[in-house]
Amino acid sequence: MPENRMDKIVALAKRRGFMFQSSEIYGGLNGFWDYGPLGVELKRNVRNAWWSDMITEHDELSAPPGAPEAFDMVGVETSIIMHPQVWKVSGHYDLFADKLVDCRETKTRFRADHLTCYSVVIPSDDDEANTRIGFVAAVGTLDDFTAQLGKSFLKRLQTAFGRDKAEVQIGDQQPFASLAVYERATVWNPAAKTVGTLTDPRDFNLMFETFTGALQSDENKAFLRPETAQGMFVNFKNVCDSSRVKLPFGIAQIGKSFRNEITPRNFTFRSREFEQMEMEFFCHPSQSLAWYQYWRDRRYNWYINLGIPKEHLILREHAKDELSHYSVGTADVEYAFPFLGAGEYGELEGVAHRGDFDLRSHMEGKLCKQDGQLVVEQGPDGKPKYQGSGKDLSYFNDQTRERFVPHVIEPAAGCDRATLAFLCEAYHEDQQPDEKGAMQERVMLKLHPRLAPIKVAVFPLIKKDGMPEKATAIYRDFKRAGIAVAYDQQAAIGRRYRRMDEIGTPFCVTVDGETLTADTVTIRNRDTLQQDRVPVKELVNYVQERLR
Ligand code: GAP
Repeated sequence: MPENRMDKIVALAKRRGFMFQSSEIYGGLNGFWDYGPLGVELKRNVRNAWWSDMITEHDELSAPPGAPEAFDMVGVETSIIMHPQVWKVSGHYDLFADKLVDCRETKTRFRADHLTCYSVVIPSDDDEANTRIGFVAAVGTLDDFTAQLGKSFLKRLQTAFGRDKAEVQIGDQQPFASLAVYERATVWNPAAKTVGTLTDPRDFNLMFETFTGALQSDENKAFLRPETAQGMFVNFKNVCDSSRVKLPFGIAQIGKSFRNEITPRNFTFRSREFEQMEMEFFCHPSQSLAWYQYWRDRRYNWYINLGIPKEHLILREHAKDELSHYSVGTADVEYAFPFLGAGEYGELEGVAHRGDFDLRSHMEGKLCKQDGQLVVEQGPDGKPKYQGSGKDLSYFNDQTRERFVPHVIEPAAGCDRATLAFLCEAYHEDQQPDEKGAMQERVMLKLHPRLAPIKVAVFPLIKKDGMPEKATAIYRDFKRAGIAVAYDQQAAIGRRYRRMDEIGTPFCVTVDGETLTADTVTIRNRDTLQQDRVPVKELVNYVQERLR
């Protein structure tokens, strides 16, 4: 049994069929994941919760002051491969890149911003006079590294720097990207034998390339979308012309996106194929700041309402220097994932004020900032570097007779990251007595009932006296009501409860002797362990009421 909390969650996810490595029988494919029978239900519930809260059941009345009380939210489903011009105009073709560092010796690859360099010094009595002889590069903290390599770390460090006898010490730290070129030549990758094996950072575009049609030529080159958002922007006019939406309104979509991440890691957190839940909210520029604040808070509360406590969730407003060139404001909803250090958080969702950048780009061509203004970027020939569609993507308000390009607020969430966060948060261990009264460790997923893959399990207490037949009839009642249900008649009742606790089933119904005479069952609550006696005819309602 693993010791570390995250390792336990990963082990449970595999053991009970939530997530598996993609193509596992061939050794897996880094950055790709499959969802098993329970995982697919959990993820579908996350997706459904988002879609119904944002679209189907959306009926928000607490809009910002001055805004209409009700507003439309509609959905689209757009293609994964879009016209290549979309990505040129959106900026992804030129700018959607990470800085990449290669190790020439070990042939491994790092994201430059993930590498921290610790100086290696020969100490002197006077700290100020320490002589720096190079750096050690580490992903994460150096403590993780030294713990991993144990005593051999220091020995290898001394060998790498040719300082067998001298006492070498580790000093202060700085990001790899901030080192001068001559300093980079003195960096040691602890997985390598020699110093200076890391290359200078270079741009690496994260979009996956493919070709449309039979010819693999530049003209046929296309990209797997790195975000779903552009599908909403390019359909803005279609949606306005074909439906009765009036500003402000939102267009949402859930779908797969692809990024050739340099270092996919932390289970499904950073994958190469993942699902996004994005919404583009179009509004009048004068109201955009109020809507930005509205969506930021509403999206934060979505996670809280589904069971992530405030102690583990932050809303982090980006500093000015973190903002994209078009953004007026961005806030991230971040969760304290167990694979991170104390006080560290990982992004679940970004809520961005994108101004009129996207609609204008798709009208006029790729924009860039000049003297504080967004202007069409020129190529060497003085023409737009990448042409827009030339279509009019402005909005006409027929009551005020005003024509303008709407501003956009974009809450962009990751479905896999949200699923992982709910799974991590749900993981609990406690001690419960077994049938003989001995304390046993219980592993439980305290998932919100809306997210639980199976909502209710039905057990006959024993496999005779007509109990299995009665339990099967109840099982079918739940099926007919569309409630995800399991049936289990194997093993002692306590073990059956524990099997269900481990996958987060909120309710367990037991058919016993009294069921046969009084037509009542016990229904046990996963979290309180309380058992209520409920008439069979009220069972479906009882569970349905508690699933929201
Ligand atoms: N349209 C804006 C956009 O795509 P983003 O912050 O790059 O913004 C939005 O992505 C969300 O998508 C992130 O907050 C994260 O939840 C998810 N996401 C992004 N890259 C991911 C990856 N490599 N693996 C899993 N989820 C990812």
